[in-house]
Amino acid sequence: MDFLHSVLLRALPLVPRSLIRRVAGRYIAGETREGLLRVVERLHAEEIRTTVDLLGENVETIQEAKGAADEYDRLLDCLQGKGPTPQVSVKLSLLGLRIDELLAESLLLRIVGRASRLGVGVFLDMEDSSTTDVTLRIYRRAREGFPSLGIAIQAYLRRSLRDVLDLLPLRPAVRVCKGIYNEPETLAFKDRQQIRESYVRLVELLLDGGAYPAIATHDAWLIERSLHLIRSRRVGAESHEFQMLLGVGEKLRPRIRAAGSFLRLYCPYGPDWYSYSLRRLKENPRMTGYIFKSVFTSKILDRGHLGA
Ligand code: FDA
Repeated sequence: MDFLHSVLLRALPLVPRSLIRRVAGRYIAGETREGLLRVVERLHAEEIRTTVDLLGENVETIQEAKGAADEYDRLLDCLQGKGPTPQVSVKLSLLGLRIDELLAESLLLRIVGRASRLGVGVFLDMEDSSTTDVTLRIYRRAREGFPSLGIAIQAYLRRSLRDVLDLLPLRPAVRVCKGIYNEPETLAFKDRQQIRESYVRLVELLLDGGAYPAIATHDAWLIERSLHLIRSRRVGAESHEFQMLLGVGEKLRPRIRAAGSFLRLYCPYGPDWYSYSLRRLKENPRMTGYIFKSVFTSKILDRGHLGA
């Protein structure tokens, strides 16, 4: 990351929310369930699968955690019968993990129980490394009753090879992603190529172990390597999928579909769009440059923040 980009990243929280909202709108499926469902229906019409995520994390009250679970209930009712394999993604910290492990687990079980009755799939997102152990622990317990429950694993974590080997006898559905959180070098690879190699190894293990890898990346190099692994092992379209974030990597979609693989888009929605938008913008140097250009070339400058 060059010096200018890292300075811009640090200044991002000073940019007016209205501008962030406008620029990051491409990453968010809607602030309301109604807006989200329009996007989901449009994607399904294009034969793109979806996984829907209610935005928010690290809630601090039991009430907020229960409120999030209630919203998932309403969402599941709406997703029933929508598209070939409707799915939701869940962050345990939105269900109160930081307050009490048992609270998060019981709310997750409620969501997964309802989802399985309605024919909707569920995937657990993976959050920062302070939650890896507890997320895996809850996943294993919840999966006993709901074998289709999936989990995300981060290729940048040094421990992930061990974690995948431990999970492999379950032949689980695993979303392999690079990892988004800022982790120390003792826990995570920092070198781009090392992360890619770890990623390929995890996909390889999952394919060879008869698990269901969900290959979540917009890295063209990784997509080609994964497609090569899939071809060389003659893995069918029903035994894996690719995943991307809404608003990212559109140009790569035709390549995946031409190879005969299914593509699922991660569609976040809800009023709590701000921190998710910042995360996406931080991954996109062109966009951060564009935001700051807009701030300084238009009159939207919010002197209350930027002038401080
Ligand atoms: P990389 O960051 O190298 O990007 C490859 C290329 O994609 C870039 O060169 C650029 O062209 C484009 N690109 C990437 N991000 C962009 C953006 N925001 N805007 C515009 N272009 C962009 N992480 C995690 O820690 N826990 C999780 O549970 C999940 N879940 C998850 C689900 C799904 C479906 C996806 C696709 C990703 C996640 N992630 C995640 C995020 C993931 O860990 C990672 O941070 C991002 O996917 C970016 O990594 P890439 O593999 O795309 O490579």
